[in-house]
Amino acid sequence: MTATAHATGEALRVEHLSAGYGDTQVLWDISFDIAPGEIVAIIGSNGAGKSTLLGAISGLVKTWSGSVTYAGNDLTGRHADRIVSAGIVQVPQGRRLFGSMTVEENLLMGAYLRRDNEVKSDVAKMLVLLPRLRERFSFLAGHLSGGEQQQVAIARALMSRPKVLLIDEMSLGLAPVLVDQLLEIIKAIHATGVAILMVEQDVQTALEISSRAYVLETGHFTLAGPSSELLDDPKVKKAYLGV
Ligand SMILES: Nc1ncnc2c1ncn2[C@@H]1O[C@H](COP(=O)(O)OP(=O)(O)OP(=O)(O)O)[C@@H](O)[C@H]1O
Ligand SMILES: [Mg+2]
Repeated sequence: MTATAHATGEALRVEHLSAGYGDTQVLWDISFDIAPGEIVAIIGSNGAGKSTLLGAISGLVKTWSGSVTYAGNDLTGRHADRIVSAGIVQVPQGRRLFGSMTVEENLLMGAYLRRDNEVKSDVAKMLVLLPRLRERFSFLAGHLSGGEQQQVAIARALMSRPKVLLIDEMSLGLAPVLVDQLLEIIKAIHATGVAILMVEQDVQTALEISSRAYVLETGHFTLAGPSSELLDDPKVKKAYLGV
């Protein structure tokens, strides 16, 4: 382990990050970190830059300045595959499944960078974690319900054995009962030691499951703190909880 890695532990650290598209800046001087085994939430309204932030971490959006490091290794501007190999994996907004491939094939796609011989046994583990997928194993992903598709998207991400899972708008478009099921799954994943960064418009859900949270408004962090405190914060209540 290098001296830097020792000093930073296994944390995912974003420092002074700016990013955007073309000439348009979307993220301004964003800094935060996620310790091993933490669940951290980023909340914010439509267009605040939440997905852009996840994209900048996972190498899908070009960073303009600042840095992304994991366990002391600089990942800033690295190719998306390199970031997956480093253990940081995104579950994209809208699921982005391979709709004309089966559930099994989608899971195997999640392991495309792996060269070990435990891929099959990991698929079996996914079917224990997500029993619904056992019933849907040979179905085309495009034919599944929204909740089932979200489960496939999560399982596909887990197939690359992440240390940090980035989840973008998991609950979007799903009935509360399905969101509750997914939250149980997230807790089970968390219990295996995976750190989770959750981006959500469903602020109540995000603050209930996370230990810390950040409020993103037009590309700036405007509030941060323990999630239990943000749930009680008058500004959060007024702007995001409708109370
Ligand atoms: N590929 C792109 N090219 C140009 N502009 C983009 C692109 N993706 C997003 N934007 C713009 O960047 C800003 C932030 O978008 P982003 O998708 O990151 O927000 P968000 O917080 O994830 O929103 P939502 O809650 O709707 O998912 C928006 O103004 C959006 O129009
Ligand atoms: Mg988004």
